[in-house]
Amino acid sequence: MEIKNVGVVGCGVMGVGITQLCAQSGYNVVVTEVSDELLNKGLKSIDAVLGRLVAKEKISPRDKESTLARIRGTTDLGELSGCDIVIEAATEDMAVKKDIFARLDKVCPRRTILATNTSVLSVADIAAATKRPEQVLGLHFANPVPVMKILEMIVTIATSQGTAEIARKFGESIGKTVVTAKDLPGFISNRISTSYLLNAVRLVQEGIATPEDIDTVFRLGAGHPMGPLQTLDLIGIDTVYRGASALYDELKDPQYAPPPLMKRMVALGWLGRKTGKGFYEYPKE
Ligand SMILES: NC(=O)c1ccc[n+]([C@@H]2O[C@H](COP(=O)([O-])OP(=O)(O)OC[C@H]3O[C@@H](n4cnc5c(N)ncnc54)[C@H](O)[C@@H]3O)[C@@H](O)[C@H]2O)c1
Repeated sequence: MEIKNVGVVGCGVMGVGITQLCAQSGYNVVVTEVSDELLNKGLKSIDAVLGRLVAKEKISPRDKESTLARIRGTTDLGELSGCDIVIEAATEDMAVKKDIFARLDKVCPRRTILATNTSVLSVADIAAATKRPEQVLGLHFANPVPVMKILEMIVTIATSQGTAEIARKFGESIGKTVVTAKDLPGFISNRISTSYLLNAVRLVQEGIATPEDIDTVFRLGAGHPMGPLQTLDLIGIDTVYRGASALYDELKDPQYAPPPLMKRMVALGWLGRKTGKGFYEYPKE
């Protein structure tokens, strides 16, 4: 099957990047959100990112226009009916994802591959909400999507080889190096990185060091482009909190138990860059 039309569910941190990258790679993209307000916020940020690429002469003004012309936003999931592959990048919540997949299963033609960008949730559980589990898999992008070269492909015990082959080709067509992982909690990256991120929060919680000093240790001492608390702010404190909670639920390993400080930050809406405050503050541009 040749993929031409891509659907993206959710136009938040990841949906924005996936939409931009797929459109820049020549695919027609329909992206859905729950409200016009969130949709417009996401589409505006794609416009702004492309504008910055034009200013830096990385793409031409014409590239920007043609990319934007390939993107259509909607609040109606039914408009994904013409898509060959749909990538779900909605909130990291099993109930939300199951509801979306059950609806996608009704809306999308039989050929459509359904992928989830979940960070840690069971892809098989999500696939079980559909009548096509052999055509469901995980496509776990890294943030920022247009920059990071890796794509983790998660195959469940039900995913067909044909589905995995098409998805791998698709991932390569948008410039990614595709690695495969089994459908077990956290796959590759989050199984390893979650405990690192949570340990950094524990240091802040215990007052052992400031976020700045912890991040400086990893930037200057380990060559990381960002420290763990800057990374948490980039990903979203709520997303890491939900992911860690899901890992802890499945593995019962205390290294994944989210520190109480995170719960309080989520309650206050201190979610990182996306809300302007997390471990650091981000003045509005
Ligand atoms: N943030 C990261 O760095 C990162 C990295 C890899 C994977 N992920 C995963 O990607 C997914 C999305 O994460 P995010 O950081 O973009 O979250 P986010 O909170 O920034 O965005 C999620 C968006 O999904 C929307 N949404 C919720 N229900 C919806 C529905 N029924 N239809 C359409 N839109 C809906 C929300 O309104 C929200 O705007 C999660 O599963 C997360 O675990 C995140």
